[in-house]
Amino acid sequence: MKQNYLRQILSKLQTGIIAKFIAKQLRQPSGFFAKIIGKQMNQSNKILYGLTIKTMNPKDGDSILEIGFGNGKFFKQIFSTAENLKISGIDFSPEMVKTATANNSRNIKSGNLDLQVGNSDKLPFSDNSFDKVFCINVVYFWQQPDNHLQEIYRILKPDGRFYCAIKSKQNLQKMSFTQHGFTLYEEQELVNILQHNELKVVEVNKNTKILEKIEIEAICFVAEKVFSLE
Ligand SMILES: C[S@@+](CC[C@H](N)C(=O)[O-])C[C@H]1O[C@@H](n2cnc3c(N)ncnc32)[C@H](O)[C@@H]1O
Repeated sequence: MKQNYLRQILSKLQTGIIAKFIAKQLRQPSGFFAKIIGKQMNQSNKILYGLTIKTMNPKDGDSILEIGFGNGKFFKQIFSTAENLKISGIDFSPEMVKTATANNSRNIKSGNLDLQVGNSDKLPFSDNSFDKVFCINVVYFWQQPDNHLQEIYRILKPDGRFYCAIKSKQNLQKMSFTQHGFTLYEEQELVNILQHNELKVVEVNKNTKILEKIEIEAICFVAEKVFSLE
């Protein structure tokens, strides 16, 4: 009886510790596990990349920024959609930048892709420099979203668009790791935060798929920079 009780406590403790560890790695992959986490994310987030790339519909010559690209596996897919794309990426995990750099050496050498370590609350880019900015599974980790969104607003061209992809709150609530440092958003909450930062939501696209018996609901918000000459 006592042993069973102890076993239950131990198992709960392990679940808590493991969930915390996974959450920390998803927020900022680091150390030995960074590569493994990166590969795992490629599988579970493929549907979000598919939806976001289709929604962005890159045009020849577009300048695009991805915030939080992980191991950068999906840059090649974006390059295949249009000619002469200029893509930049920023991620605050040095391990992910290193892995993504190795995964995209051809596009980096040709000068079409630039990857840097950095935080989205202080973007190292000039005002009005991107046609499109996107991030996938990143907003959950922003403690003060306004700081990040003001930076995105600043670097977007006047008619530029921000594509923000997440998994639905209903999906994420079922995963125990999201109890550790994730902010989960209802659709309307995220729309309000974007609009509060002069990013007018013009479209919300969704796709649902079953992956290993788990339903994944991907949502991509499209927000346009509201530009006034005043
Ligand atoms: C959950 S992973 C998502 C990776 C990839 N976008 C995907 O969906 O598979 C979050 C990524 O964003 C990066 N990240 C989180 N917050 C960031 C921030 N404020 N600035 C830059 N990168 C950030 C992390 O280092 C990590 O690589």
